[in-house]
Amino acid sequence: MKNSLLDYILRVRFPVILFVVIASFTITYFASRTERDGIGYTPAQPINFSHKLHAGQMQIDCKYCHTGVEKSRHASVPSPSVCMNCHRVARKDKPEIIKLAKYYNDGTPILWKRIHKVPDFAYFNHSVHVNKGIDCKSCHGNVDQMDKIAQMNSFSMGACLDCHRNAHAKVPESTMLKNGPENCYACHR
Ligand code: HEC
Ligand code: HEC
Ligand code: HEC
Ligand code: HEC
Ligand code: HEC
Repeated sequence: MKNSLLDYILRVRFPVILFVVIASFTITYFASRTERDGIGYTPAQPINFSHKLHAGQMQIDCKYCHTGVEKSRHASVPSPSVCMNCHRVARKDKPEIIKLAKYYNDGTPILWKRIHKVPDFAYFNHSVHVNKGIDCKSCHGNVDQMDKIAQMNSFSMGACLDCHRNAHAKVPESTMLKNGPENCYACHR
């Protein structure tokens, strides 16, 4: 009696439980994939700022606002004072610019929603990539044509390594490029 119960559990119940666990893990894994990859993530922002207008039509250099790209790990997002260099005058009667001026006058930071993010346990650095001639486009797509920024590429470990192994193929315009590191410690320090 005891033996046949154990037998039943091992032969029938256990495989069923195992199947359910694996199936639900697999479904969750793939269903949440785009969310974890972040591709297409386009949150509403506190002010309707358009890259297409500023970086595209007006051709303001990316580095005018993202001052960290050549010298540090983070690209950084500009403070309201950078915007006010122009918007003390330009379009100052428009609702979005009145909002902007209020942030500036109150000294409160604009809480832009972060779009691109690698997890804290992974190390990424803008300056090493940008200073080797890798264009913003290679990783962020055609930002100068976006009214609202969306993430275009995956920043999974596989995606980083895909370029590190074939940097030439991925960034043909930069002829001096060496491949990127593949050792774990480079990105997990
Ligand atoms: C006039 C200032 C300005 C210029 C010029 C500018 N940006 Fe931005 N950028 C911002 C602001 C403000 C944000 C945050 C709001 C947003 O996401 O739209 C931002 C956000 C971004 C983000 C998303 C950041 C995140 O949260 O992940 C990327 C990528 C980016 N910019 C790339 C570029 C590139 C590439 C260029 C040049 C083609 C450029 N920017 C030019 C002001 C600017
Ligand atoms: C180099 C000058 C310059 C800088 C810097 C700049 N802007 Fe502008 N911005 C303009 C001009 C000029 C226009 C109007 C363009 C047009 O409509 O043809 C404009 C338009 C806008 C508009 C649309 C206003 C409307 O409703 O017509 C918003 C919103 C805006 N800017 C926000 C920002 C924010 C936020 C920043 C800082 C991250 C910023 N701008 C930095 C020059 C600038
Ligand atoms: C090799 C790929 C790569 C290149 C080239 C690149 N970025 Fe990024 N960018 C990333 C990654 C990855 C993140 C997320 C970083 C993190 O979470 O620390 C990011 C984040 C950002 C952010 C969010 C805020 C921050 O400070 O990190 C901005 C803004 C940005 N990039 C702008 C730019 C601009 C402008 C350029 C070109 C001058 C550029 N990036 C070139 C991969 C790249
Ligand atoms: C478009 C190609 C490309 C992508 C995408 C890319 N890298 Fe790189 N990366 C490079 C190249 C090329 C180098 C080597 C530059 C050199 O030393 O010549 C490099 C170098 C590095 C280094 C070494 C920096 C140092 O201090 O020496 C780190 C760390 C790194 N990348 C992390 C990342 C991470 C994390 C990601 C993904 C989020 C990523 N990279 C995505 C091309 C890329
Ligand atoms: C070029 C940069 C880079 C290198 C080299 C690299 N990783 Fe990663 N790794 C990442 C990034 C970025 C993430 C976070 C994104 C993700 O989970 O895919 C990550 C995530 C991970 C995770 C968590 C996976 C998960 O699903 O959360 C583990 C474990 C890991 N790496 C181990 C390693 C090991 C072991 C090596 C060496 C064989 C290595 N990594 C080399 C960039 C790198």
